[in-house]
Amino acid sequence: MKELEPPLIIVNFKTYLEATGRRALELARKCEKVASELGVSVAVAPQAVDIAAVASSVSIPVLAQHVDPYPPGAYTGSISIEAVKEAGAVGTLVNHSEKRLRIDEIDEVVKRARDAGLEVVVCANTPEVAASLSALRPRFIAIEPPELIGTGKAVSKTRPEVITDTIKLIRQVNPEVIVICGAGITSGEDVEAALNLGAQGILVASGVVKAKDQEGALRDLVNGLVRGARFRFRGV
Ligand code: G3P
Repeated sequence: MKELEPPLIIVNFKTYLEATGRRALELARKCEKVASELGVSVAVAPQAVDIAAVASSVSIPVLAQHVDPYPPGAYTGSISIEAVKEAGAVGTLVNHSEKRLRIDEIDEVVKRARDAGLEVVVCANTPEVAASLSALRPRFIAIEPPELIGTGKAVSKTRPEVITDTIKLIRQVNPEVIVICGAGITSGEDVEAALNLGAQGILVASGVVKAKDQEGALRDLVNGLVRGARFRFRGV
């Protein structure tokens, strides 16, 4: 299924060699396999040049890692909303800590993507920034403390208050937005902890892409997602 629905795991391929070109396809197929075996939503975010090949080979949602806020036209080197959509992406990350935009540019992306029927996951580095960005009415916000990215120290265990504060502040501005979190997530326990804190999904990169056994690492995360989703469903 190509829709982006919580609870979900988004695997960001970044520009890691282990997830570039042919290896992007292989990793996307592993993600598709685990998603269908365990019946959960797993989306992948390959590099822009790999979107078309990945999207035509798997039936899970494919996201761009970034788009620029410009309309089609004279914007050499930019990544357009129209191009990623045409290539088969159902959505895009935007304002990742490694590819930030100004707030007026994020606003433009959210509006133009909405018009184009593309999902947007807006990344934020702090709870306060996340709450401000939720006023732009994206469907998803991903909170990621940059200092934990790639460290293996999970936000859900090392800085749980970042998740709870983000949800609390966002809810005061926009009760609809789906809040996910990322940074340092490497195990099912990390994912389960994130859901128990109120997150509706996670964004992960190195914990899957750089793992010796990518499929096994993702399966562990997905099992954590399933356990966490059950916990939330019981309303404990
Ligand atoms: O977009 C996901 C990300 O920035 C988290 O990276 O390597 O800590 O899972 P990582």
